[in-house]
Amino acid sequence: MLEFLPHGDERGHLVVVEGMKDIPFEIKRIFYIYGSDKDVVRGQHANRKTQFVLINVAGTSKVRVDDGKGNETIYSLNRPHTGIYLPTMVWKDMYDFSKDSVLLCLASEPYDAEEYIRDYKEFVEIVNK
Ligand code: TYD
Repeated sequence: MLEFLPHGDERGHLVVVEGMKDIPFEIKRIFYIYGSDKDVVRGQHANRKTQFVLINVAGTSKVRVDDGKGNETIYSLNRPHTGIYLPTMVWKDMYDFSKDSVLLCLASEPYDAEEYIRDYKEFVEIVNK
Protein backbone atom coordinates (compact mmCIF):
# COMPACT_ATOMS: atom_id res chain seq x y z
CA MET A 1 0.00 0.00 0.00
CA LEU A 2 1.14 3.54 -0.70
CA GLU A 3 0.27 6.59 1.38
CA PHE A 4 0.35 9.87 -0.51
CA LEU A 5 1.01 13.07 1.33
CA PRO A 6 -2.22 15.07 1.45
CA HIS A 7 -1.64 18.77 0.91
CA GLY A 8 -4.74 19.88 2.76
CA ASP A 9 -5.65 23.32 3.96
CA GLU A 10 -8.86 25.18 4.69
CA ARG A 11 -9.70 25.11 0.97
CA GLY A 12 -9.81 21.31 0.85
CA HIS A 13 -7.49 18.44 -0.04
CA LEU A 14 -5.00 17.92 -2.83
CA VAL A 15 -3.10 14.69 -3.48
CA VAL A 16 -0.09 14.57 -5.79
CA VAL A 17 1.13 11.42 -7.53
CA GLU A 18 4.29 12.05 -9.49
CA GLY A 19 5.98 9.35 -11.59
CA MET A 20 9.33 8.05 -10.24
CA LYS A 21 8.79 10.05 -7.06
CA ASP A 22 5.58 9.02 -5.32
CA ILE A 23 5.29 5.79 -7.34
CA PRO A 24 8.07 3.60 -8.78
CA PHE A 25 7.38 4.20 -12.50
CA GLU A 26 6.69 6.91 -15.07
CA ILE A 27 2.97 7.23 -15.78
CA LYS A 28 2.21 6.43 -19.44
CA ARG A 29 -1.55 5.88 -19.16
CA ILE A 30 -4.43 6.59 -16.83
CA PHE A 31 -7.92 5.18 -16.82
CA TYR A 32 -10.69 5.05 -14.28
CA ILE A 33 -13.47 2.65 -13.50
CA TYR A 34 -16.85 3.75 -12.15
CA GLY A 35 -20.47 2.61 -12.29
CA SER A 36 -19.64 -1.04 -11.52
CA ASP A 37 -22.29 -2.86 -9.48
CA LYS A 38 -21.39 -4.38 -6.11
CA ASP A 39 -21.51 -7.94 -7.47
CA VAL A 40 -19.24 -7.21 -10.46
CA VAL A 41 -15.70 -8.59 -10.49
CA ARG A 42 -13.33 -6.71 -12.80
CA GLY A 43 -9.70 -7.21 -13.67
CA GLN A 44 -9.24 -10.99 -13.67
CA HIS A 45 -5.97 -10.75 -15.50
CA ALA A 46 -2.21 -10.41 -15.09
CA ASN A 47 0.10 -8.16 -17.08
CA ARG A 48 3.45 -9.18 -18.46
CA LYS A 49 4.75 -5.61 -18.82
CA THR A 50 2.52 -3.12 -17.02
CA GLN A 51 2.79 -2.02 -13.42
CA PHE A 52 -0.20 -0.23 -11.90
CA VAL A 53 -1.13 1.98 -8.99
CA LEU A 54 -4.83 1.91 -8.06
CA ILE A 55 -6.47 4.66 -6.02
CA ASN A 56 -10.14 4.95 -5.07
CA VAL A 57 -10.38 8.71 -5.51
CA ALA A 58 -14.05 8.42 -4.48
CA GLY A 59 -15.92 5.58 -2.77
CA THR A 60 -14.45 2.20 -1.97
CA SER A 61 -13.53 -1.13 -3.54
CA LYS A 62 -11.39 -4.16 -2.83
CA VAL A 63 -8.49 -5.65 -4.76
CA ARG A 64 -7.50 -9.29 -4.47
CA VAL A 65 -3.90 -9.92 -5.49
CA ASP A 66 -2.69 -13.44 -6.22
CA ASP A 67 0.92 -14.31 -7.10
CA GLY A 68 0.02 -17.66 -8.65
CA LYS A 69 2.17 -19.44 -6.04
CA GLY A 70 -0.50 -19.81 -3.38
CA ASN A 71 -0.28 -16.30 -1.86
CA GLU A 72 -3.41 -14.17 -1.96
CA THR A 73 -3.96 -10.81 -0.25
CA ILE A 74 -7.02 -8.58 -0.19
CA TYR A 75 -6.59 -4.82 0.02
CA SER A 76 -9.31 -2.30 0.82
CA LEU A 77 -9.13 0.92 -1.14
CA ASN A 78 -11.11 3.41 0.87
CA ARG A 79 -9.24 6.70 1.04
CA PRO A 80 -8.31 9.12 -1.78
CA HIS A 81 -4.74 9.42 -0.48
CA THR A 82 -4.07 5.66 -0.33
CA GLY A 83 -3.05 3.53 -3.28
CA ILE A 84 -1.92 0.03 -4.01
CA TYR A 85 1.10 -0.75 -6.15
CA LEU A 86 0.72 -3.77 -8.41
CA PRO A 87 3.91 -5.10 -10.01
CA THR A 88 3.91 -7.10 -13.23
CA MET A 89 2.77 -10.72 -13.22
CA VAL A 90 0.25 -10.69 -10.41
CA TRP A 91 -3.35 -11.81 -10.89
CA LYS A 92 -5.80 -9.14 -9.75
CA ASP A 93 -9.52 -8.92 -9.16
CA MET A 94 -11.27 -5.67 -8.33
CA TYR A 95 -14.67 -6.06 -6.67
CA ASP A 96 -17.08 -4.88 -3.96
CA PHE A 97 -17.42 -1.46 -5.57
CA SER A 98 -19.47 1.11 -3.67
CA LYS A 99 -22.06 2.98 -5.72
CA ASP A 100 -19.89 6.12 -5.70
CA SER A 101 -16.62 4.27 -6.43
CA VAL A 102 -14.24 5.92 -8.86
CA LEU A 103 -11.15 3.74 -9.15
CA LEU A 104 -8.24 5.60 -10.71
CA CYS A 105 -5.62 3.39 -12.35
CA LEU A 106 -2.15 4.68 -13.20
CA ALA A 107 -0.19 2.49 -15.59
CA SER A 108 3.48 2.26 -16.52
CA GLU A 109 2.80 1.31 -20.18
CA PRO A 110 0.46 2.28 -23.00
CA TYR A 111 -2.39 -0.15 -23.64
CA ASP A 112 -1.40 -3.35 -25.39
CA ALA A 113 -3.99 -6.13 -25.26
CA GLU A 114 -1.27 -8.66 -26.11
CA GLU A 115 0.50 -8.27 -22.76
CA TYR A 116 -2.62 -9.17 -20.78
CA ILE A 117 -2.92 -12.77 -19.55
CA ARG A 118 -6.63 -13.49 -19.11
CA ASP A 119 -6.43 -17.24 -18.54
CA TYR A 120 -5.72 -18.03 -14.86
CA LYS A 121 -4.33 -21.49 -15.62
CA GLU A 122 -1.89 -20.04 -18.13
CA PHE A 123 -0.82 -17.40 -15.57
CA VAL A 124 -0.13 -20.04 -12.89
CA GLU A 125 1.88 -22.11 -15.36
CA ILE A 126 4.02 -19.12 -16.40
CA VAL A 127 4.86 -17.93 -12.85
CA ASN A 128 5.74 -21.43 -11.71
CA LYS A 129 7.93 -22.26 -14.72
P1 TYD B 1 -10.69 -4.57 -19.17
O1 TYD B 1 -9.23 -4.84 -19.25
O2 TYD B 1 -11.61 -5.72 -19.30
O3 TYD B 1 -11.03 -3.76 -17.85
P2 TYD B 1 -10.83 -4.21 -16.31
O4 TYD B 1 -9.54 -4.92 -16.23
O5 TYD B 1 -10.77 -2.95 -15.60
O6 TYD B 1 -12.00 -5.01 -15.90
O7 TYD B 1 -11.01 -3.48 -20.28
C1 TYD B 1 -12.33 -3.17 -20.68
C2 TYD B 1 -12.30 -2.70 -22.14
O8 TYD B 1 -11.57 -1.48 -22.26
C3 TYD B 1 -11.64 -3.70 -23.06
O9 TYD B 1 -12.40 -3.73 -24.27
C4 TYD B 1 -10.29 -3.11 -23.35
C5 TYD B 1 -10.51 -1.63 -23.19
N1 TYD B 1 -9.33 -0.91 -22.68
C6 TYD B 1 -8.61 -0.09 -23.53
O10 TYD B 1 -8.92 0.06 -24.73
N2 TYD B 1 -7.52 0.58 -23.03
C7 TYD B 1 -7.14 0.45 -21.73
O11 TYD B 1 -6.15 1.10 -21.31
C8 TYD B 1 -7.89 -0.41 -20.86
C9 TYD B 1 -7.50 -0.59 -19.42
C10 TYD B 1 -8.97 -1.08 -21.38
